[in-house]
Amino acid sequence: MLRSPFKVVGAPASNQQIHVPSHDKKIWAIGGGKGGVGKSFIISNLAISLARSGKRVVLIDLDLGSANLHTCLGCDIPKQTLSDFFSGRTPSLNSLLTQTQLSNVSFISGANDSVVAANIPIEDHNNLIKNLLALPCDHLLIDLGAGTHSTTLDYFLLANRPIIGVTPEPTSIENAYRFIKSAFYRQIKNIEAKLNLKSIVDQAMDHKNNLGIKTPSDLVYKIASLNPSMGAAFLAEIQKFQLYLIMNQVRTRNDVDTGHSVRSICNKYFGINTHYVGYLEYDNAVWQAIRKRKPLILEYPYSTLVVEFANIARKLDGDERSPQSNLLRTS
Ligand SMILES: Nc1ncnc2c1ncn2[C@@H]1O[C@H](COP(=O)(O)OP(=O)(O)OP(=O)(O)O)[C@@H](O)[C@H]1O
Ligand SMILES: [Mg+2]
Repeated sequence: MLRSPFKVVGAPASNQQIHVPSHDKKIWAIGGGKGGVGKSFIISNLAISLARSGKRVVLIDLDLGSANLHTCLGCDIPKQTLSDFFSGRTPSLNSLLTQTQLSNVSFISGANDSVVAANIPIEDHNNLIKNLLALPCDHLLIDLGAGTHSTTLDYFLLANRPIIGVTPEPTSIENAYRFIKSAFYRQIKNIEAKLNLKSIVDQAMDHKNNLGIKTPSDLVYKIASLNPSMGAAFLAEIQKFQLYLIMNQVRTRNDVDTGHSVRSICNKYFGINTHYVGYLEYDNAVWQAIRKRKPLILEYPYSTLVVEFANIARKLDGDERSPQSNLLRTS
């Protein structure tokens, strides 16, 4: 049973905010909470679809500690990874770029050292973001790990296309809701810091608050009743929060419709603008291609999935409803 979006289990502990300079890059990031739902597979194939339509794409594996995006792209693990960048051995991201077999698609491999990954200071993340934004590409696509770590949420929120990857299984959907609520919570914290709303937001975050606040719109009304101009500013910020949903591994019509249900729950109960941009069929070709370490499109160019990816990439790329990232810029 869904309850107040403000009851967040496993909310991120870190209160430090990352800094995102102004930029004109298109940044897509995929998260979703549950491991193994196909996030890396989806983001790598979206990258390939974009590249086929002439875009210069760089993928970055930010599943720090268990990076495996290279396998979905049909590449060996590169000699240099983000571990080298974070440790200062390689100061330039350009030298970490690995060209794939597909023109216009290159990638940066994630740190595979979990000790390094868990202890990266905020300054190093800020430095990474600054360097990422300077890369020579039109689109920057970010693969994220499972879970709701604050770093994962921050990279998710800095995207102007934050994508939720989910499968029709209840466990995946539960984790997706948890991820969405955590991302939303983190965004509220960002807005709170920007607008100085600490006390009222803290009360609202308390699940048992006695202000009658159960949903984001309750929160907006409460803030507006206390301070109308604050309420308007909060509403303007919160309306920027929007998500893109992809249902993966669908087998039946019901599975496809589950995506519509998730979208409508996010819109209705959480008040979060969610767009269901498409679904991807379950296809044995996926694991067969991955096992051969070949990108799906090269191994099975006539697979239905290739068409589905092209449609989703076109929709996402063409959607100009949200040119800003969810994460507040601090320029
Ligand atoms: N549409 C699909 N049809 C069939 N199998 C799929 C499909 N999508 C993903 N898979 C299978 O799911 C496996 C896991 O995918 P992937 O590694 O992309 O998940 P992930 O969400 O990135 O996992 P993690 O959170 O551990 O990084 C793939 O190796 C593939 O075998
Ligand atoms: Mg992955």
